[in-house]
Amino acid sequence: MQELASSQLFVSIKGFGKRWFGLRFDVDSGIAYGMMTAEKPRTSLADRLGFPLRELVVAPMVDQSELAFRMLCRKYGATLCYTPMLHARLFAESAKYRRAKFTTAPGDRPLMIQFCGNDPEIVLAAAQYVEGQCEAVDLNLGCPQNIAKRGRYGSFLLEEADLICSIVARLAAKLQTPVSCKIRILPSRERTLDLARRIEDAGCSLLTVHGRTKEQNKERVGACDWDIIRAIKDAVQIPVIANGGVGTFAEAQRCREATGADAIMSAEAILENPALVAGMDPAPSPIQMALDYLDMVARYPDTKKVIQAHLFKLLHGPLCVHPEFRQLISRPHRVRDVEAYLDAMRQHVDALDALQLGGEDARCRPHQNIGTYYPWYGRHRVSNAV
Ligand SMILES: Cc1cc2nc3c(=O)[nH]c(=O)nc-3n(C[C@H](O)[C@H](O)[C@H](O)COP(=O)(O)O)c2cc1C
Repeated sequence: MQELASSQLFVSIKGFGKRWFGLRFDVDSGIAYGMMTAEKPRTSLADRLGFPLRELVVAPMVDQSELAFRMLCRKYGATLCYTPMLHARLFAESAKYRRAKFTTAPGDRPLMIQFCGNDPEIVLAAAQYVEGQCEAVDLNLGCPQNIAKRGRYGSFLLEEADLICSIVARLAAKLQTPVSCKIRILPSRERTLDLARRIEDAGCSLLTVHGRTKEQNKERVGACDWDIIRAIKDAVQIPVIANGGVGTFAEAQRCREATGADAIMSAEAILENPALVAGMDPAPSPIQMALDYLDMVARYPDTKKVIQAHLFKLLHGPLCVHPEFRQLISRPHRVRDVEAYLDAMRQHVDALDALQLGGEDARCRPHQNIGTYYPWYGRHRVSNAV
């Protein structure tokens, strides 16, 4: 497949058998010229995504990186977002699951759609439903939860390189859409590098590396290994996204330097401060971000469980100072009407704001270790900060 530089566009006019005639437009010189090619040229995935990315990539997060949150992050400057992990078998088999778990909208691009699964044909069948709605289909090789152990997917496949490669190869052969993978690291450096090279050889177009093993989870999360991400970046030709150990925009810059990665991905830190994606400084207040989030949910509905989880993280700072509001936000709402539910939440957020000295309460700003408030990201993490 012939690839174009990022400064060039190819408009295909007609295919003749296996040959393509089109117009190549060079953005730098402004010159357009006709060309005949053996195959239809396409821009590389890295060019399509605009790598290297200045802003942070919004990580896949079950019950968190749904459409409304992605659109909030995009409002604050994010370009590249991942969907939460979707279960390939359920997605392939159930229209109800597809409707409930995957929504998108104009403006929700570039987008990576993530699946978990262990059967090449089933992952392929699921992926075929979303072709054309995303920049790449991503395979989850990082989930460390017990449910993934029972289902034999996520990080529990990392020891099964042959199986991983057969899934990647099948998707790469059958889909028009590129295939990417998100891995955790293995305890051995050599095996991690070998796995990364094999995934690339199988046809993967982009690799995200969370620099922790599957055992580094919850209270045992520990520091993230940026050295191994650097070694993977040096070992493969495809773009690499580094993930883990990033709680602030400054840490993201340090991660970029330490790993040489094409982009940096954030999960937990942006749940508290979505404006972190583009390093907005000063960030909008947590109150403003919570209200903006509720506006997004009004346009792109979600479940109360997801909304509540977001409000707790977005309002983590103010709630440390005014814990009595936790109960109000978590109180089960019997209102069936979504609009009424959102109004009730808006009123709680406004009331919280009114207590905050006009929003000037420094303890309520994200990412500051002041008084009773510690960032939500730091609750059981060893920071990679120097
Ligand atoms: C609520 C939550 C849900 C997550 N769901 C997924 C998921 O669906 N797929 C995935 O690959 N990783 C998932 N992760 C892991 C993150 O994408 C990321 O790899 C991890 O949190 C480390 O990044 P961080 O240090 O920026 O938080 C999830 C993390 C969180 C906090």
